[in-house]
Amino acid sequence: MKQKLIAGNWKMNGSLIANAALVHGVQQGLASALGAKRVQVVVCVPAVYLSQVQQLVQGSGIDLGSQDVSAHEQGAFTGEVSAAMLKDFAVRYAIVGHSERRQCHGETDEQVALKAQHALSAGITPIVCVGETLAEREAGKTEDVVKRQLAAVIHTNGHCISEIVVAYEPVWAIGTGQTASPTQAQAVHAVLRSQLKAATEHSDRVRILYGGSMNAANAAELLSQPDIDGGLIGGAALKVADFLTIISAAAR
Ligand code: 13P
Repeated sequence: MKQKLIAGNWKMNGSLIANAALVHGVQQGLASALGAKRVQVVVCVPAVYLSQVQQLVQGSGIDLGSQDVSAHEQGAFTGEVSAAMLKDFAVRYAIVGHSERRQCHGETDEQVALKAQHALSAGITPIVCVGETLAEREAGKTEDVVKRQLAAVIHTNGHCISEIVVAYEPVWAIGTGQTASPTQAQAVHAVLRSQLKAATEHSDRVRILYGGSMNAANAAELLSQPDIDGGLIGGAALKVADFLTIISAAAR
């Protein structure tokens, strides 16, 4: 069975002091949250704090992640951070194609696919986000949208596709307190799973996370669905007790 993965996406939150308190708190509660089980725990932090959090998580069993990676290797791309630079800070996971980047920064499916490619070639696991808006769901386009978004990544990355992590994050559920029901989420995860199956014989290795208002109260039920292999957590990952409760739900 795949090990579940719980990733916190801190988004644009934190400070030197707050980060230290958050990581220490999670570290302190981690062993009892996990019990005998193993769950991969990741924190995806703002780029300026990678160095700080790299030190904080050392030897703790928590892995470091970034919230983005450049689609370019190096050069005249002001403000961008390359996969090789992330690797310098022992980054193991990079979120790519988060809906906030697709919406606020106009990232296209093709750019997201290239970002995944750059991460993979640096030995970083991309967490590829897909998800529909409310208007798309209401128009019955959910399946088309998520398949189109994932297809671009499959097309660009070929046989490496079994090395990615996918995160289904319905845009209408992000930061709204409105979670997809376990049945709604499982239905989309099953679609993504069969798309991966058609692309690689190692599809069973690919973890498909759910993200969008996952919290301490709803995590256990979401995580018990057959194709939900973990969570990508925003707001609740900033609160020690809530994040630990979600981790222990994944360890059940
Ligand atoms: P919330 O958990 O705050 O809804 O955010 C989800 C998300 O966007 C994680 O990437």
